[in-house]
Amino acid sequence: MLYQIYPRSFLDTDGDGVGDIEGVRAGLDHLRWLGVDGVWLSPIYRSPMADFGYDVSDHCAIDPVFGDLEGFDRLLGDAHASGLRVLLDWVPNHTSDRHRWFVESRSSRDAATREWYFWRDGRDGGPPNNWRAAFGGRAWTWDGATGQWYLHLFLPEQPDLNWAHPGVVEAMHGVLRFWLDRGVDGFRADVVHLIGKDPTLPDQPRALAETDLVGVHDHPSAHPLLRGIRAVLDSYQGDRVMVGEVNLGTPVLLAPYYGAGDELHMVFNFSLLWASWDAGQWAERIVESEAALTSPDAWPVWVLSNHDTPRHRTRYGGREDRARVAATVLLTLRGTPFLYAGEELGLLDADVPEAARVDPGGRDGCRAPIPWDDGPGHGWAGVPWLPWPPEVGERDAATLRADEGSILHLYRRLLAARRRSEALHAGTWRLLDAPPGVLAYAREAGEDRRQVWANFGDEPVVCPTDGGWLVEVGSLDGERGLAWDGRLRGTGAVVLAPAG
Ligand code: GLC
Repeated sequence: MLYQIYPRSFLDTDGDGVGDIEGVRAGLDHLRWLGVDGVWLSPIYRSPMADFGYDVSDHCAIDPVFGDLEGFDRLLGDAHASGLRVLLDWVPNHTSDRHRWFVESRSSRDAATREWYFWRDGRDGGPPNNWRAAFGGRAWTWDGATGQWYLHLFLPEQPDLNWAHPGVVEAMHGVLRFWLDRGVDGFRADVVHLIGKDPTLPDQPRALAETDLVGVHDHPSAHPLLRGIRAVLDSYQGDRVMVGEVNLGTPVLLAPYYGAGDELHMVFNFSLLWASWDAGQWAERIVESEAALTSPDAWPVWVLSNHDTPRHRTRYGGREDRARVAATVLLTLRGTPFLYAGEELGLLDADVPEAARVDPGGRDGCRAPIPWDDGPGHGWAGVPWLPWPPEVGERDAATLRADEGSILHLYRRLLAARRRSEALHAGTWRLLDAPPGVLAYAREAGEDRRQVWANFGDEPVVCPTDGGWLVEVGSLDGERGLAWDGRLRGTGAVVLAPAG
């Protein structure tokens, strides 16, 4: 299980109100206690922060707001010493417009790095094609100095790199090596499918052009590039991994990004993150994913929350009972689950007043700071850059840790159960017959067997049972160790282990 840290919002130790690397280091104790296997850090590189670090101006330096390389090495050492892996966020599709490669590229049509980005003449007095940018507006910006347009699928401050140019491939492989040499265990690759582009940059069909275009780039040229990237990782000792963000919708479209075990090690599957609170829909999406990811190389990755989407408890009407059921399912599926920092506390999105909003993509709410204790600063040295999430007085890591019945302890129990049982993390997954509104499945690895029953509805239900099962983890405490009689409370879930 991997744990995503959005460093700005994790813990501030130097008093500037922005989380930092020392804060992550201070949080390692919490992560060890919880039972995570590793962390993914959202970008900590030098950046003008137009997209809060996803606009990198120097891939091999730490932004001073987070600390420095020495501090990073200390964090890496401490994490490794306690058996935690560290994954960095690698942003291959674009750089900052202040990156020296782009500064040079835009300086003249003959610049050495001109072709490292997409420069084109316009069409009929407008941009070269109809592509739209992820945060709105067109994906092209006119550059008066050299009289051409440049492509950016995100902000104008995030020009797209042209991976068809060998110089880009070499330079970006060099970035991977810089961090692999330092000892990092791998990367989360940001919108990595977008590095494969149709070289003719054709217009998108009109209907798609009017919506979000980022999701529809799925070009075969991505695959040889991913094999090259994989070869860089494979040339290092130890298990170095790359987990890719591929925003293509259905799991069927994700499978090719694993290649024949020679492209991405893992690919985020957002199908549950996008699902509504509906047992039937969850069942369908898990079945669909299991059917799409049959190769042993296609190890699934599940996620309910991240720094780009409202937190799942917020999406489920703010209900903690639903967040508990969701956690029980998330942590008992085949594959690797990702947790987004704070979900183990059951955090809600902050309500960020208009004047305090800073993100161009409107994602401030889910990036609210993590409260560590119930003191006035909640563990933070400075006043955080975003407002606290709701319930901050009573919902913080220290308070929930002192309460065995809290959602935090549920996460810890689920993670321990998952580690104990091969069936739960790696076994086969099979849907069971269940009453309407209930998602139920069996997990098996040889003799090791588990069942999971999750009631998405508010009314209690009686489920069919063949007897012989004990509750190993219940979404509410107090059910542990009881013989399972098939009765499931409203909005409740259980993980069952064979009795005896
Ligand atoms: C990914 C990141 C998101 C960022 C975008 C551009 O979707 O998760 O936060 O804004 O890529 O890099």
